[in-house]
Amino acid sequence: MKNIFGPTPNGETASLYTLSCGQMEAVVTDFGATLVQLFVPDRQGNLADVVLGFDSPAAYAASDTYLGATVGRNANRIKGAAIVVNNTTYALQANDGVNSLHSGPMGFERRLWQVAEQEQDRIRFTLHSPHLDQGFPGNADIQVTYRLTADSLEISYEAVSDQDTVFNMTNHSYFNLAGHDRVEKAMEQVLSMPARFFTVANEQCIPTGELRSVEGTPMDFRAPKALGRDIGADYEPLHLQNGYDHNFEVFCNPCATLSDPESGRSMAVYTDCPGVQVYTANFTRGDGKGGIRYEPRCAVCLETQFYPDAIHNPQWKQPVTKAGKKYQSKTSYRFSW
Ligand code: GAL
Repeated sequence: MKNIFGPTPNGETASLYTLSCGQMEAVVTDFGATLVQLFVPDRQGNLADVVLGFDSPAAYAASDTYLGATVGRNANRIKGAAIVVNNTTYALQANDGVNSLHSGPMGFERRLWQVAEQEQDRIRFTLHSPHLDQGFPGNADIQVTYRLTADSLEISYEAVSDQDTVFNMTNHSYFNLAGHDRVEKAMEQVLSMPARFFTVANEQCIPTGELRSVEGTPMDFRAPKALGRDIGADYEPLHLQNGYDHNFEVFCNPCATLSDPESGRSMAVYTDCPGVQVYTANFTRGDGKGGIRYEPRCAVCLETQFYPDAIHNPQWKQPVTKAGKKYQSKTSYRFSW
C-alpha cells in the first residue's frame, strides 16, 4: 500500500509504503529509506508501534536524530572528517565539530530514494551516489531492502562503486518495545549482549583505539539487565557520552536482545557486522509522531556497523569495498511476544 507522506524540502513528494506479514506491520518512506512505524503484538495480541518517528518529511529533515533512517555511506563518526583511500586524501563534510557524523549534513537520510520493487512484505529502495558525494570516492549504486516475516524485520544492503570506497551502512531506528509513546518505559527494558569488549571513546565520541573488557564495568550486559540500571554509574565512558553511546563487539548472534517485561515483547538482533552501537537517545528531545514529546533516554538504538572510525584504526576490520566488488550486509530484528 502506498500513500502520500508529504513534500520534502526540495519540493519532491515523499511516499509511505506499508508492509505486512502476519501480525507484523511496517511503514517506510522513500525519504531517507526510513522506517517510520513498526507494529508488533504484545503477549495479549495488542499492537504497539515500537519505533520513534515523525509525522512529515519536513520534521525528519529538520532533525539531527536520524530516527529510523538509512545511514550511509558511512555510519557513525570519522575523526577529522577526512579519509585516505589508496594514498589519496578525501575531505568529508564535518558536521559534528571537526568530525563527520553519519557521513555529513546531507546524508542518505535526507535523500528521496527510488523504489525498485515492492510487494506486500518487502520493498527495495535504490540510490545513486555520485563520485565525491559527501566527499567519498567513486560513483556508487546503493540498495536497501526491508522485508517483513511473521516475526522479523530484515534489512539488507548492497552497494557497488567504480572506485575503492567506504561502505558502512546502518539503520538508525530507536526502539521502545513498550511503544514509542511510552517515553518513561524505555530504560526499564532489559538488554542482553554477549559482547566482551567495547570501544572506548573520547569526549567527541571518537574511539581512542582501545577495546576494553566489559568485565566489572557498567558496560557488561552479558547477564541481562535493565538499560537504566547502571546508566547513572560513576564511570567515565558513561559520563563522557551522557549515557550509553558505545560500540560493542559482535562475535555471535543474536548480538543483542532487548526485552520489555511488561508487554512481553522481545527483540533479538542478528547481523553480519562486526559491531553494534548502543545509543540510549541521550540527547533526543522534541515532538515526535502524534505529538508525543520525546525526551532523552526514551528509546534505544542498536545500530549494526563497523567499529566507529575504523578507517583510522587499521587493527580493526576495515569498511573499504574494492571497486566493482559488491558490499553486502544484513541485519534482522526478530521479535517474540
Ligand atoms: C548515534 C550516535 C550518537 C548521536 C546520534 C544522532 O548513532 O552514536 O552520538 O550522534 O547518532 O543523534
